[in-house]
Amino acid sequence: MRKIKIFDTTLRDGEQSPGCSMNLQEKLDAAKQLKKLGVDIIEAGFAASSKGDFDAIAAIAKNVKGVTVCSLARCLKSDIDAAAEALKEAEHPRIHVFIATSEIHMEHKLHLSKEQVLSAVKEYVAYAKSKCADVQFSAEDATRSDKDFLCEVLSAAIAAGATTVNIPDTVGYTTPAEMAELVLYVKAHTKGIENAVIAAHCHNDLGLAVANSLSALSAGAGQVECTVNGIGERAGNAALEEVVMGIKVRGDVMGIYTDIDTTQIYRSSRLIYGITGDHAPKNKPVVGDNAFSHEAGIHQHGVLNDRRTYEIMKPEDIGINRDNMALGKHSGRHAFEKRLVELGYNPDKEQLDRYFEVFKELADKKKDITDKDLEAIASEHIRETPHYTLDRFAVQAGNRSTPTCVIRLIKDGVKFEDVAIGDGPVDAAYKAVDKIICPPPHELYDYAIHSISGGKDALGEVTVKLKVEGGSVTGRGLSTDIIEASIIAYINAVNRLLDENG
Ligand code: KIV
Ligand code: ZN
Repeated sequence: MRKIKIFDTTLRDGEQSPGCSMNLQEKLDAAKQLKKLGVDIIEAGFAASSKGDFDAIAAIAKNVKGVTVCSLARCLKSDIDAAAEALKEAEHPRIHVFIATSEIHMEHKLHLSKEQVLSAVKEYVAYAKSKCADVQFSAEDATRSDKDFLCEVLSAAIAAGATTVNIPDTVGYTTPAEMAELVLYVKAHTKGIENAVIAAHCHNDLGLAVANSLSALSAGAGQVECTVNGIGERAGNAALEEVVMGIKVRGDVMGIYTDIDTTQIYRSSRLIYGITGDHAPKNKPVVGDNAFSHEAGIHQHGVLNDRRTYEIMKPEDIGINRDNMALGKHSGRHAFEKRLVELGYNPDKEQLDRYFEVFKELADKKKDITDKDLEAIASEHIRETPHYTLDRFAVQAGNRSTPTCVIRLIKDGVKFEDVAIGDGPVDAAYKAVDKIICPPPHELYDYAIHSISGGKDALGEVTVKLKVEGGSVTGRGLSTDIIEASIIAYINAVNRLLDENG
Protein backbone atom coordinates (compact mmCIF):
# COMPACT_ATOMS: atom_id res chain seq x y z
CA MET A 1 0.00 0.00 0.00
CA ARG A 2 1.36 3.46 -0.94
CA LYS A 3 0.80 6.40 1.37
CA ILE A 4 -0.76 9.39 -0.41
CA LYS A 5 0.16 12.89 0.75
CA ILE A 6 -2.80 15.21 1.21
CA PHE A 7 -1.97 18.75 0.08
CA ASP A 8 -4.71 21.06 1.29
CA THR A 9 -5.19 24.29 -0.65
CA THR A 10 -8.39 25.53 1.03
CA LEU A 11 -6.56 28.64 2.20
CA ARG A 12 -5.05 29.43 -1.22
CA ASP A 13 -7.00 28.06 -4.20
CA GLY A 14 -10.18 27.83 -2.09
CA GLU A 15 -9.93 31.22 -0.47
CA GLN A 16 -9.23 33.04 -3.73
CA SER A 17 -12.67 32.15 -5.09
CA PRO A 18 -15.55 34.66 -4.84
CA GLY A 19 -17.40 34.71 -1.53
CA CYS A 20 -14.78 32.59 0.27
CA SER A 21 -12.41 35.25 1.57
CA MET A 22 -11.20 34.72 5.13
CA ASN A 23 -9.51 36.99 7.61
CA LEU A 24 -6.30 36.14 9.43
CA GLN A 25 -7.95 34.66 12.51
CA GLU A 26 -10.21 32.48 10.38
CA LYS A 27 -7.24 31.22 8.35
CA LEU A 28 -5.37 30.43 11.53
CA ASP A 29 -8.36 28.54 12.99
CA ALA A 30 -8.75 26.65 9.72
CA ALA A 31 -5.03 25.78 9.62
CA LYS A 32 -5.16 24.44 13.19
CA GLN A 33 -8.13 22.28 12.24
CA LEU A 34 -6.33 21.05 9.09
CA LYS A 35 -3.44 20.02 11.31
CA LYS A 36 -5.87 18.05 13.52
CA LEU A 37 -7.33 16.48 10.41
CA GLY A 38 -3.85 15.25 9.58
CA VAL A 39 -3.15 16.83 6.19
CA ASP A 40 0.49 16.59 5.11
CA ILE A 41 0.81 20.03 3.52
CA ILE A 42 -1.15 23.24 4.14
CA GLU A 43 -0.93 25.69 1.27
CA ALA A 44 -1.49 28.77 3.40
CA GLY A 45 -1.67 31.38 0.64
CA PHE A 46 0.16 33.26 -2.07
CA ALA A 47 2.57 35.51 -0.16
CA ALA A 48 3.20 38.04 -2.94
CA SER A 49 -0.47 38.51 -3.78
CA SER A 50 -1.42 40.73 -0.82
CA LYS A 51 -0.35 41.79 2.66
CA GLY A 52 -3.28 39.78 4.04
CA ASP A 53 -1.99 36.61 2.41
CA PHE A 54 1.58 37.29 3.52
CA ASP A 55 0.52 37.86 7.14
CA ALA A 56 -1.70 34.77 7.20
CA ILE A 57 1.11 32.54 5.88
CA ALA A 58 3.53 34.01 8.42
CA ALA A 59 1.02 33.48 11.28
CA ILE A 60 0.35 29.89 10.23
CA ALA A 61 4.09 29.20 9.78
CA LYS A 62 4.71 30.50 13.28
CA ASN A 63 1.80 28.87 15.09
CA VAL A 64 1.03 25.60 13.33
CA LYS A 65 3.81 23.05 13.76
CA GLY A 66 4.22 19.41 12.76
CA VAL A 67 2.94 19.97 9.21
CA THR A 68 4.47 21.38 6.02
CA VAL A 69 3.37 24.97 5.37
CA CYS A 70 3.53 26.16 1.78
CA SER A 71 3.26 29.41 -0.17
CA LEU A 72 2.54 29.76 -3.86
CA ALA A 73 4.91 31.87 -6.03
CA ARG A 74 5.05 32.79 -9.71
CA CYS A 75 8.32 32.49 -11.61
CA LEU A 76 9.42 35.86 -10.24
CA LYS A 77 12.25 36.66 -7.85
CA SER A 78 10.00 39.00 -5.82
CA ASP A 79 7.34 36.27 -5.43
CA ILE A 80 9.88 33.72 -4.26
CA ASP A 81 11.46 36.20 -1.85
CA ALA A 82 8.02 36.99 -0.38
CA ALA A 83 7.22 33.28 -0.02
CA ALA A 84 10.55 32.56 1.71
CA GLU A 85 10.12 35.52 4.04
CA ALA A 86 6.54 34.59 4.99
CA LEU A 87 7.60 31.00 5.66
CA LYS A 88 10.71 31.81 7.67
CA GLU A 89 9.26 30.57 10.96
CA ALA A 90 7.75 27.39 9.49
CA GLU A 91 9.00 24.09 10.89
CA HIS A 92 8.71 22.53 7.42
CA PRO A 93 8.48 25.26 4.74
CA ARG A 94 7.67 24.57 1.09
CA ILE A 95 7.80 27.01 -1.83
CA HIS A 96 5.40 26.19 -4.65
CA VAL A 97 6.54 27.71 -7.94
CA PHE A 98 4.27 27.63 -10.97
CA ILE A 99 4.07 28.68 -14.60
CA ALA A 100 1.66 27.73 -17.39
CA THR A 101 2.79 25.27 -20.05
CA SER A 102 -0.17 25.07 -22.47
CA GLU A 103 0.01 26.85 -25.84
CA ILE A 104 -3.09 28.86 -25.05
CA HIS A 105 -1.74 30.17 -21.73
CA MET A 106 1.81 30.74 -23.00
CA GLU A 107 0.63 32.68 -26.04
CA HIS A 108 -2.40 34.58 -24.76
CA LYS A 109 -1.65 35.06 -21.07
CA LEU A 110 2.10 34.97 -20.55
CA HIS A 111 3.16 36.12 -24.05
CA LEU A 112 6.17 33.84 -23.71
CA SER A 113 7.64 31.26 -26.08
CA LYS A 114 8.26 27.66 -25.03
CA GLU A 115 11.98 28.41 -24.71
CA GLN A 116 11.28 31.37 -22.42
CA VAL A 117 8.98 29.28 -20.21
CA LEU A 118 11.58 26.53 -19.99
CA SER A 119 14.32 28.94 -19.05
CA ALA A 120 12.08 30.62 -16.42
CA VAL A 121 11.44 27.20 -14.86
CA LYS A 122 15.18 26.45 -14.66
CA GLU A 123 16.01 29.87 -13.23
CA TYR A 124 13.21 30.23 -10.68
CA VAL A 125 13.00 26.67 -9.41
CA ALA A 126 16.76 26.90 -8.78
CA TYR A 127 16.26 30.26 -7.07
CA ALA A 128 13.48 28.84 -4.87
CA LYS A 129 15.74 25.88 -4.05
CA SER A 130 18.44 28.28 -2.88
CA LYS A 131 15.90 29.60 -0.35
CA CYS A 132 14.08 26.41 0.68
CA ALA A 133 14.92 22.70 0.58
CA ASP A 134 11.36 21.68 -0.24
CA VAL A 135 10.30 23.04 -3.64
CA GLN A 136 7.19 22.06 -5.55
CA PHE A 137 6.75 22.94 -9.20
CA SER A 138 3.36 23.13 -10.98
CA ALA A 139 2.84 23.24 -14.73
CA GLU A 140 -0.39 25.23 -14.87
CA ASP A 141 -2.91 23.92 -17.42
CA ALA A 142 -0.84 20.73 -17.70
CA THR A 143 -3.74 18.68 -19.03
CA ARG A 144 -4.02 20.96 -22.09
CA SER A 145 -0.24 21.13 -22.63
CA ASP A 146 1.79 19.32 -25.24
CA LYS A 147 2.80 16.12 -23.41
CA ASP A 148 6.42 16.13 -24.52
CA PHE A 149 6.87 19.78 -23.66
CA LEU A 150 5.26 19.12 -20.27
CA CYS A 151 7.76 16.32 -19.60
CA GLU A 152 10.66 18.54 -20.73
CA VAL A 153 9.52 21.25 -18.30
CA LEU A 154 9.05 18.79 -15.43
CA SER A 155 12.49 17.27 -16.12
CA ALA A 156 14.01 20.77 -15.95
CA ALA A 157 12.15 21.52 -12.70
CA ILE A 158 13.45 18.31 -11.12
CA ALA A 159 17.01 19.01 -12.34
CA ALA A 160 16.73 22.48 -10.75
CA GLY A 161 15.69 21.01 -7.40
CA ALA A 162 11.92 20.41 -7.36
CA THR A 163 11.02 17.37 -5.27
CA THR A 164 7.29 17.47 -6.09
CA VAL A 165 5.96 18.05 -9.61
CA ASN A 166 2.32 18.87 -9.97
CA ILE A 167 0.04 18.20 -12.95
CA PRO A 168 -2.88 20.60 -12.60
CA ASP A 169 -6.09 20.16 -14.52
CA THR A 170 -6.53 23.91 -14.16
CA VAL A 171 -9.76 24.22 -16.11
CA GLY A 172 -11.34 20.90 -15.13
CA TYR A 173 -11.10 19.62 -18.70
CA THR A 174 -9.64 16.15 -18.46
CA THR A 175 -11.31 12.77 -17.90
CA PRO A 176 -10.33 9.97 -15.52
CA ALA A 177 -8.84 7.74 -18.26
CA GLU A 178 -6.91 10.64 -19.79
CA MET A 179 -5.58 11.72 -16.38
CA ALA A 180 -4.26 8.23 -15.63
CA GLU A 181 -2.65 8.10 -19.08
CA LEU A 182 -0.98 11.47 -18.48
CA VAL A 183 0.48 10.38 -15.15
CA LEU A 184 1.86 7.22 -16.79
CA TYR A 185 3.28 9.31 -19.65
CA VAL A 186 4.97 11.70 -17.20
CA LYS A 187 6.39 8.74 -15.28
CA ALA A 188 7.81 7.25 -18.46
CA HIS A 189 9.18 10.42 -20.09
CA THR A 190 10.37 12.73 -17.31
CA LYS A 191 14.03 12.62 -16.31
CA GLY A 192 14.61 12.15 -12.61
CA ILE A 193 10.94 11.43 -11.90
CA GLU A 194 11.95 8.51 -9.67
CA ASN A 195 13.31 11.14 -7.25
CA ALA A 196 10.17 13.27 -7.21
CA VAL A 197 6.58 12.93 -6.08
CA ILE A 198 3.94 13.41 -8.78
CA ALA A 199 0.95 15.45 -7.64
CA ALA A 200 -2.55 15.86 -9.11
CA HIS A 201 -4.52 19.11 -8.77
CA CYS A 202 -7.97 18.86 -10.35
CA HIS A 203 -10.69 21.44 -10.82
CA ASN A 204 -14.33 20.47 -10.98
CA ASP A 205 -15.75 22.22 -14.06
CA LEU A 206 -17.19 18.96 -15.42
CA GLY A 207 -17.84 17.45 -11.99
CA LEU A 208 -14.85 15.12 -12.46
CA ALA A 209 -12.31 16.56 -10.02
CA VAL A 210 -12.53 13.74 -7.48
CA ALA A 211 -12.68 11.00 -10.14
CA ASN A 212 -9.70 12.53 -11.98
CA SER A 213 -7.73 12.82 -8.74
CA LEU A 214 -8.36 9.20 -7.76
CA SER A 215 -7.47 8.11 -11.27
CA ALA A 216 -4.14 9.98 -11.08
CA LEU A 217 -3.42 8.35 -7.72
CA SER A 218 -4.21 4.87 -9.08
CA ALA A 219 -1.76 5.52 -11.91
CA GLY A 220 1.06 6.37 -9.50
CA ALA A 221 0.69 9.98 -8.31
CA GLY A 222 1.76 10.29 -4.67
CA GLN A 223 0.17 13.60 -3.71
CA VAL A 224 -3.34 14.89 -4.20
CA GLU A 225 -4.36 18.53 -3.93
CA CYS A 226 -7.80 19.36 -2.61
CA THR A 227 -9.91 21.78 -0.59
CA VAL A 228 -12.37 21.26 2.25
CA ASN A 229 -15.93 21.28 0.83
CA GLY A 230 -14.38 21.53 -2.65
CA ILE A 231 -14.28 25.33 -2.50
CA GLY A 232 -12.26 26.98 -5.26
CA GLU A 233 -12.30 28.86 -8.55
CA ARG A 234 -15.49 28.44 -10.63
CA ALA A 235 -16.91 24.95 -9.86
CA GLY A 236 -14.20 24.43 -7.26
CA ASN A 237 -11.38 21.98 -6.56
CA ALA A 238 -11.45 18.30 -5.71
CA ALA A 239 -13.24 18.03 -2.35
CA LEU A 240 -10.89 16.77 0.36
CA GLU A 241 -13.62 14.86 2.19
CA GLU A 242 -14.62 12.99 -0.98
CA VAL A 243 -11.06 12.19 -2.04
CA VAL A 244 -10.13 11.01 1.44
CA MET A 245 -13.26 8.90 1.98
CA GLY A 246 -12.85 7.54 -1.56
CA ILE A 247 -9.41 6.35 -0.55
CA LYS A 248 -10.61 5.05 2.82
CA VAL A 249 -13.49 3.07 1.33
CA ARG A 250 -11.85 1.94 -1.96
CA GLY A 251 -8.12 2.29 -1.18
CA ASP A 252 -7.86 -1.49 -1.28
CA VAL A 253 -8.47 -1.55 -5.05
CA MET A 254 -6.09 1.36 -5.63
CA GLY A 255 -3.39 0.10 -3.23
CA ILE A 256 -3.26 3.45 -1.39
CA TYR A 257 -4.02 5.03 1.98
CA THR A 258 -3.74 8.43 3.72
CA ASP A 259 -2.86 9.50 7.25
CA ILE A 260 -6.03 11.58 7.61
CA ASP A 261 -8.00 11.26 10.85
CA THR A 262 -11.36 10.91 9.11
CA THR A 263 -13.25 11.55 12.37
CA GLN A 264 -12.20 15.21 11.96
CA ILE A 265 -13.82 15.52 8.52
CA TYR A 266 -17.29 16.64 9.59
CA ARG A 267 -15.88 19.18 12.02
CA SER A 268 -13.50 20.54 9.34
CA SER A 269 -16.30 20.82 6.84
CA ARG A 270 -18.56 22.67 9.30
CA LEU A 271 -15.74 25.02 10.23
CA ILE A 272 -15.12 25.99 6.60
CA TYR A 273 -18.83 26.35 5.84
CA GLY A 274 -19.12 28.51 8.97
CA ILE A 275 -16.33 30.75 7.73
CA THR A 276 -17.51 31.05 4.14
CA GLY A 277 -21.13 31.51 5.28
CA ASP A 278 -22.41 28.62 3.18
CA HIS A 279 -24.11 25.28 3.79
CA ALA A 280 -23.54 21.88 2.25
CA PRO A 281 -26.13 20.97 -0.37
CA LYS A 282 -28.28 18.30 1.28
CA ASN A 283 -27.08 15.61 -1.11
CA LYS A 284 -23.40 16.54 -0.99
CA PRO A 285 -21.31 13.35 -0.74
CA VAL A 286 -19.91 12.60 2.73
CA VAL A 287 -20.91 15.83 4.55
CA GLY A 288 -24.40 16.70 3.24
CA ASP A 289 -27.39 16.34 5.60
CA ASN A 290 -28.77 13.47 3.54
CA ALA A 291 -25.47 11.61 3.12
CA PHE A 292 -26.49 9.13 5.82
CA SER A 293 -30.26 9.40 5.82
CA HIS A 294 -32.56 6.81 4.30
CA GLU A 295 -35.98 7.73 3.05
CA ALA A 296 -37.31 4.80 1.04
CA GLY A 297 -39.04 2.19 3.21
CA ILE A 298 -37.09 -0.64 1.63
CA HIS A 299 -33.80 1.11 2.44
CA GLN A 300 -34.88 1.91 5.99
CA HIS A 301 -35.82 -1.69 6.51
CA GLY A 302 -32.44 -2.87 5.25
CA VAL A 303 -30.52 -0.35 7.35
CA LEU A 304 -32.46 -1.32 10.48
CA ASN A 305 -31.42 -4.93 9.94
CA ASP A 306 -27.82 -4.12 9.08
CA ARG A 307 -26.49 -0.63 8.23
CA ARG A 308 -24.13 -2.10 5.64
CA THR A 309 -27.06 -2.86 3.31
CA TYR A 310 -27.17 0.78 2.19
CA GLU A 311 -24.22 2.45 3.92
CA ILE A 312 -20.67 2.11 2.59
CA MET A 313 -19.30 4.29 5.38
CA LYS A 314 -20.52 5.10 8.87
CA PRO A 315 -21.42 8.58 10.13
CA GLU A 316 -18.98 7.97 12.98
CA ASP A 317 -16.18 7.50 10.42
CA ILE A 318 -16.37 11.21 9.65
CA GLY A 319 -17.04 12.26 13.23
CA ILE A 320 -20.83 12.47 13.37
CA ASN A 321 -22.28 11.27 16.64
CA ARG A 322 -26.04 10.98 16.31
CA ASP A 323 -26.98 9.48 19.64
CA ASN A 324 -26.80 12.72 21.61
CA MET A 325 -29.83 13.91 23.56
CA ALA A 326 -30.86 17.50 22.97
CA LEU A 327 -29.90 20.08 25.60
CA GLY A 328 -32.50 22.45 27.08
CA LYS A 329 -32.92 25.44 29.34
CA HIS A 330 -32.04 23.45 32.43
CA SER A 331 -28.74 22.27 31.00
CA GLY A 332 -25.81 23.81 32.81
CA ARG A 333 -22.56 25.25 31.57
CA HIS A 334 -20.73 22.00 32.23
CA ALA A 335 -23.09 19.91 30.09
CA PHE A 336 -22.94 22.59 27.40
CA GLU A 337 -19.15 22.62 27.34
CA LYS A 338 -18.95 18.81 27.42
CA ARG A 339 -21.20 18.54 24.38
CA LEU A 340 -19.21 21.14 22.46
CA VAL A 341 -16.02 19.19 23.14
CA GLU A 342 -17.74 15.95 22.03
CA LEU A 343 -18.65 17.74 18.81
CA GLY A 344 -14.97 18.56 18.30
CA TYR A 345 -14.93 22.19 19.44
CA ASN A 346 -12.38 23.46 21.94
CA PRO A 347 -13.59 26.90 22.92
CA ASP A 348 -11.37 29.04 25.12
CA LYS A 349 -12.90 30.63 28.21
CA GLU A 350 -13.89 33.83 26.47
CA GLN A 351 -15.56 31.96 23.60
CA LEU A 352 -17.31 29.63 26.01
CA ASP A 353 -18.77 32.58 27.94
CA ARG A 354 -20.05 34.09 24.71
CA TYR A 355 -21.46 30.84 23.34
CA PHE A 356 -23.12 29.99 26.66
CA GLU A 357 -24.85 33.35 26.74
CA VAL A 358 -26.26 32.73 23.24
CA PHE A 359 -27.25 29.20 24.29
CA LYS A 360 -29.16 30.48 27.35
CA GLU A 361 -31.01 33.11 25.31
CA LEU A 362 -31.91 30.47 22.74
CA ALA A 363 -33.00 27.95 25.38
CA ASP A 364 -35.52 30.49 26.66
CA LYS A 365 -37.18 30.52 23.25
CA LYS A 366 -36.68 26.97 22.04
CA LYS A 367 -37.34 23.75 23.97
CA ASP A 368 -34.72 21.42 22.50
CA ILE A 369 -31.28 22.65 21.55
CA THR A 370 -29.87 20.14 19.08
CA ASP A 371 -26.29 19.44 18.04
CA LYS A 372 -26.93 21.42 14.87
CA ASP A 373 -27.97 24.43 16.97
CA LEU A 374 -24.80 24.05 19.05
CA GLU A 375 -22.66 23.83 15.94
CA ALA A 376 -24.27 27.02 14.64
CA ILE A 377 -23.56 28.77 17.93
CA ALA A 378 -19.94 27.58 17.97
CA SER A 379 -19.31 28.36 14.30
CA GLU A 380 -19.17 32.03 15.09
CA HIS A 381 -15.92 33.34 13.76
CA ILE A 382 -16.12 37.04 14.07
CA ARG A 383 -13.47 37.86 16.59
CA GLU A 384 -12.82 41.50 15.80
CA THR A 385 -13.88 43.98 18.42
CA PRO A 386 -17.43 44.66 17.33
CA HIS A 387 -17.64 48.35 16.48
CA TYR A 388 -21.44 48.38 16.70
CA THR A 389 -23.83 45.95 18.40
CA LEU A 390 -27.59 45.75 18.22
CA ASP A 391 -29.37 47.14 21.26
CA ARG A 392 -33.00 47.01 20.12
CA PHE A 393 -35.20 47.38 17.08
CA ALA A 394 -38.87 47.64 16.16
CA VAL A 395 -40.24 46.94 12.72
CA GLN A 396 -43.62 47.66 11.31
CA ALA A 397 -44.51 45.77 8.16
CA GLY A 398 -47.59 44.54 6.37
CA ASN A 399 -48.92 44.06 2.85
CA ARG A 400 -50.67 47.47 2.97
CA SER A 401 -48.22 49.58 4.95
CA THR A 402 -44.78 51.01 4.30
CA PRO A 403 -42.17 48.84 6.03
CA THR A 404 -40.45 50.93 8.69
CA CYS A 405 -37.69 50.13 11.15
CA VAL A 406 -36.50 52.02 14.21
CA ILE A 407 -33.16 50.72 15.37
CA ARG A 408 -30.79 51.42 18.22
CA LEU A 409 -27.12 50.43 18.06
CA ILE A 410 -24.41 50.75 20.68
CA LYS A 411 -20.80 51.68 20.12
CA ASP A 412 -18.38 52.12 23.04
CA GLY A 413 -21.32 52.46 25.42
CA VAL A 414 -22.94 55.24 23.38
CA LYS A 415 -26.43 54.65 21.92
CA PHE A 416 -27.36 55.69 18.39
CA GLU A 417 -30.91 55.56 17.11
CA ASP A 418 -32.43 56.12 13.68
CA VAL A 419 -35.40 55.20 11.56
CA ALA A 420 -35.83 54.29 7.88
CA ILE A 421 -38.43 52.97 5.47
CA GLY A 422 -37.68 50.31 2.86
CA ASP A 423 -39.09 47.77 0.42
CA GLY A 424 -39.52 45.29 3.24
CA PRO A 425 -38.65 45.06 6.95
CA VAL A 426 -35.10 43.85 6.27
CA ASP A 427 -34.43 46.58 3.73
CA ALA A 428 -35.82 49.19 6.14
CA ALA A 429 -33.61 47.85 8.94
CA TYR A 430 -30.49 47.86 6.73
CA LYS A 431 -31.21 51.43 5.64
CA ALA A 432 -31.57 52.48 9.29
CA VAL A 433 -28.24 50.79 10.11
CA ASP A 434 -26.60 52.59 7.17
CA LYS A 435 -27.92 55.93 8.41
CA ILE A 436 -26.22 55.35 11.77
CA ILE A 437 -22.95 53.77 10.61
CA CYS A 438 -22.41 55.30 7.14
CA PRO A 439 -20.38 52.22 6.09
CA PRO A 440 -17.77 52.28 3.29
CA PRO A 441 -19.21 51.75 -0.22
CA HIS A 442 -20.32 48.18 -0.80
CA GLU A 443 -22.85 46.07 -2.65
CA LEU A 444 -24.97 43.47 -0.84
CA TYR A 445 -24.65 40.58 -3.27
CA ASP A 446 -25.84 37.63 -1.26
CA TYR A 447 -28.42 37.22 1.49
CA ALA A 448 -29.45 33.75 2.66
CA ILE A 449 -31.67 32.41 5.43
CA HIS A 450 -31.12 28.89 6.63
CA SER A 451 -33.09 27.02 9.23
CA ILE A 452 -30.63 25.22 11.47
CA SER A 453 -32.93 22.48 12.74
CA GLY A 454 -36.53 21.54 11.97
CA GLY A 455 -39.62 22.92 13.68
CA LYS A 456 -41.42 26.25 13.66
CA ASP A 457 -39.24 27.48 16.53
CA ALA A 458 -36.08 26.65 14.57
CA LEU A 459 -33.01 28.77 14.95
CA GLY A 460 -32.64 30.89 11.83
CA GLU A 461 -29.22 31.68 10.46
CA VAL A 462 -28.82 34.60 8.11
CA THR A 463 -25.70 35.13 6.04
CA VAL A 464 -25.01 38.41 4.32
CA LYS A 465 -22.16 38.88 1.84
CA LEU A 466 -20.97 42.34 0.89
CA LYS A 467 -18.81 43.02 -2.14
CA VAL A 468 -16.22 45.72 -1.62
CA GLU A 469 -13.32 46.91 -3.72
CA GLY A 470 -10.77 44.10 -3.81
CA GLY A 471 -12.88 41.42 -2.11
CA SER A 472 -15.88 40.59 -0.01
CA VAL A 473 -16.90 40.25 3.63
CA THR A 474 -19.40 37.90 5.23
CA GLY A 475 -21.56 38.43 8.30
CA ARG A 476 -23.69 35.87 10.14
CA GLY A 477 -26.60 36.33 12.50
CA LEU A 478 -28.42 33.74 14.57
CA SER A 479 -31.81 34.11 16.16
CA THR A 480 -35.21 32.44 16.31
CA ASP A 481 -36.45 35.77 14.88
CA ILE A 482 -35.31 36.08 11.27
CA ILE A 483 -35.52 39.88 11.22
CA GLU A 484 -33.21 40.01 14.21
CA ALA A 485 -30.87 37.42 12.61
CA SER A 486 -30.87 39.55 9.43
CA ILE A 487 -29.95 42.70 11.33
CA ILE A 488 -27.18 40.99 13.33
CA ALA A 489 -25.73 39.48 10.14
CA TYR A 490 -25.64 42.87 8.44
CA ILE A 491 -24.12 44.64 11.45
CA ASN A 492 -21.46 41.91 11.68
CA ALA A 493 -20.62 42.29 8.00
CA VAL A 494 -20.42 46.07 8.31
CA ASN A 495 -18.22 45.73 11.43
CA ARG A 496 -15.83 43.66 9.34
CA LEU A 497 -15.87 46.30 6.62
CA LEU A 498 -14.95 48.91 9.21
CA ASP A 499 -12.15 46.63 10.48
CA GLU A 500 -10.72 46.17 7.02
CA ASN A 501 -10.88 49.90 6.36
CA GLY A 502 -8.97 50.69 9.55
O1 KIV B 1 -5.28 25.29 -10.90
C1 KIV B 1 -4.06 25.53 -10.99
O2 KIV B 1 -3.42 25.35 -12.02
C2 KIV B 1 -3.41 26.06 -9.82
C3 KIV B 1 -1.93 26.11 -9.84
C4 KIV B 1 -1.39 27.40 -9.34
C5 KIV B 1 -1.36 24.94 -9.10
O3 KIV B 1 -4.06 26.36 -8.82
ZN1 ZN C 1 -6.06 25.39 -8.92
